[in-house]
Order: sequence, then structure tokens, then C-alpha cells
Amino acid sequence: MTARILLAYYSMSGHTRELAGELRTALQAEVEEIREPHPRSGAGGIWRSVVDTVLRREPPILAPALDPTGYDLLAIGGPVWVGRMASPLRSYARRMAARAPRLAFFCTEGGRGAEQAFDDLGRLCGRAPEATLVVDARHLRPEQHRESLQRFVRALRTPRAGADR
Ligand SMILES: Cc1cc2nc3c(=O)[nH]c(=O)nc-3n(C[C@H](O)[C@H](O)[C@H](O)COP(=O)(O)O)c2cc1C
Repeated sequence: MTARILLAYYSMSGHTRELAGELRTALQAEVEEIREPHPRSGAGGIWRSVVDTVLRREPPILAPALDPTGYDLLAIGGPVWVGRMASPLRSYARRMAARAPRLAFFCTEGGRGAEQAFDDLGRLCGRAPEATLVVDARHLRPEQHRESLQRFVRALRTPRAGADR
């Protein structure tokens, strides 16, 4: 039986949105975009992102439409901000991660901080992810991260040990 997968992502400048689109096709997953009531734009938006992240804020997000309870696995993704996952993603994870039977993380980044950001998000979720995918600024084009994406897809498609399938 094919795992039902929900991809929940946040993206400010579009990199993670494009990656989520590739994953959606590869996994035949359903997608929830995490959105904010006050979208971030320009220098003010970047400054707010830095402050929110450093202060570990969990800013308001619009109510998610999809419930992870109805899926086998939830993959949460977004950009790395100041060595942590983007703060709207933290807001989502706080509300929704506990409802997911299985958990995976993915991110885009400039070039550093992903592992630390995943550790931090795992602590917030109360468990480590089963699989992770990192795409940095030098590997944004699909052909540049094809292998790591396929590894991630295979890991998500593999039923959890002991699962009744
Ligand atoms: C406020 C802010 C902080 C960032 N901090 C980091 C960082 O600590 N490490 C890093 O590698 N990239 C950092 N970046 C770069 C983003 O992670 C990267 O551009 C990402 O692909 C953006 O994803 P998006 O287009 O989905 O928003 C930061 C970007 C912003 C706007």
C-alpha cells in the first residue's frame, strides 16, 4: 500500500516552494502551504524574520486546511533562518507535528545551519525525523539535487519497521 504523505512547507522567496513542488510530484503527496496573516516582504520582512528567529518566536499562521492525522507521514519543510528553521514553520510544527504518525524534515539554505535547525525542530516536535533533505544555494536546480531527493523519496516510501502493511 502506498503511504499517504502530507507535505507542509513555508517559503518566503520561493526556493522551498519549488522543492516542495518536486517532492509533491515524486511522492504523489498532498501539499499544505504554511501562510501568515502578515506576509514578509522587503527589508522589513527580513529584519522581522531575523528577530523572530533569534527570539524563538512562533508567529501567527493561517489555520492549516489539512489534518496530518489522516496521513501516514508528515514532511515539514522551509528555509533555514539564522541557523534555525523559519519561525512560521515552528508555529506549524507546534500545532500539528504531534498529530503525525511519522515525521520527516526538508529545507533549503544558503549553505550552513541545516543540521542545527533540524535538531532544534526535532526538539520542538518531541522526536527526531525519520529522514531529512537539505538543498543549499549551489544545488537549487533539480538536476543538482536529484540524487539526494531520490534518497529522501525512497526513505519516505519505505514503511516504518514494524508497521502493519
Ligand atoms: C532572515 C534570513 C536568515 C537566513 N539565515 C540563513 C542561515 O542561517 N543559513 C543559511 O544557510 N541560509 C540562511 N538564509 C538563506 C535562506 O535559508 C535560503 O535563501 C533559502 O533557500 C530561502 O528559502 P525560501 O526561498 O523558500 O524562503 C537566510 C535567509 C533569510 C531571509
